[in-house]
Amino acid sequence: MRRLDQLLANLGYCSRSEARDWTDSGTVLVRGEPADGPSQKAHAADVRVEGAPLDHPDGLILLLHKPLGLVCSHELREGPNIYTLLPARWQRRNPVITSIGRLDKDTSGLILLTDQSALVHRLTSPKHKVPKIYRATLGADLTPARAAESATLFAAGTLILPDETTPCAPAALTLISPREVELTLTEGRYHQVRRMFAWVGYEVVALHRTHFGALDLGDLKPGTWRELPLDFFATP
Ligand code: URA
Repeated sequence: MRRLDQLLANLGYCSRSEARDWTDSGTVLVRGEPADGPSQKAHAADVRVEGAPLDHPDGLILLLHKPLGLVCSHELREGPNIYTLLPARWQRRNPVITSIGRLDKDTSGLILLTDQSALVHRLTSPKHKVPKIYRATLGADLTPARAAESATLFAAGTLILPDETTPCAPAALTLISPREVELTLTEGRYHQVRRMFAWVGYEVVALHRTHFGALDLGDLKPGTWRELPLDFFATP
């Protein structure tokens, strides 16, 4: 059981100090009865606000098609962010909704968002080796010979990027066409795809993540998301 003011504030309905207005106005019901006040304790499932059940009281996992031009940071000085795509109430939740790993401002594609910090840690840990597939467009043609050389280097697990001390985990490179490649990574270092191709002499001019583990975007349009069940990543 939790205090109503805490429940309402954490789920983004209002601030804790505004909760008294909400409970006093009769719009908050507990088991069908008007709430006594902000300090009343209740199970989230027993609460109704304006006749509706509470908005995702147990948490959220979202699969977002990140559009270009938005950052994954909450820092406003870093520019417009992906969280502005979400409903205003979700943007006020505590714990905050955050991305599981990041994509650059200039990268589009599949990104997971959640308010479950344990899940963020689990899925971003290189230990878990979740494969992530990127489709990259290169600034120049990658000849079959250079592609084979790069594929061997990336797969070896020996490449140490500038300013780093540990080698990148083995990664799989597939040539789609002379300027289109697919790279599968099991980790998520800063600008990793761009830096790996820079190492072999190629600029990445467009980058899109198509898969995260077994998940893909399906027909999601850029800027839209779908919810995943909370037990989606539960381990048996
Ligand atoms: N690698 C990059 O270079 N950018 C991303 O956003 C993700 C992986």
